[in-house]
Amino acid sequence: MKNILLIIVLFVLAGCYYDSEEALFGKPAIQASTCNIDSTKFSVEIKSILQSNCLSCHSNTTAASSGAGIKLQDYADVKSNSARLLGSVQQASGYSPMPKGGLKLTDCSISMIQAWTTKGAPNN
Ligand code: HEC
Repeated sequence: MKNILLIIVLFVLAGCYYDSEEALFGKPAIQASTCNIDSTKFSVEIKSILQSNCLSCHSNTTAASSGAGIKLQDYADVKSNSARLLGSVQQASGYSPMPKGGLKLTDCSISMIQAWTTKGAPNN
């Protein structure tokens, strides 16, 4: 009798385990489907990516001391550095890998920067 109870308990636990695994595997799929690069705008996505990952070193006030003088805060400055932007976040050879000392940007963020620079880095 004790053994049967134990087996039932194990089945219940196994059921819970697979449920939570399903929930975990479900998440990346949902995130991937919300990465819409078609309408990427400087004023929305690009600004926010730079704000969260780059301005600690490349803002108007931090660039001189931490960002090799490269400013990525105002549109005009981002535009004039846009030729080196994509290669650096893709961490392509021949570029300084960015964000320096931090984790590589998500695939979605890199795709947005690619979409925006490919369109000529417009002020949109
Ligand atoms: C911790 C400080 C720091 C952070 C954060 C940082 N950078 Fe930089 N960045 C630098 C420094 C310093 C250089 C000068 C080159 C070097 O030292 O590698 C540089 C160089 C660059 C260059 C020129 C690279 C080249 O090969 O010509 C670009 C473009 C750039 N950064 C963009 C970015 C972007 C975009 C981000 C955010 C995703 C970012 N950086 C985050 C410090 C930083």
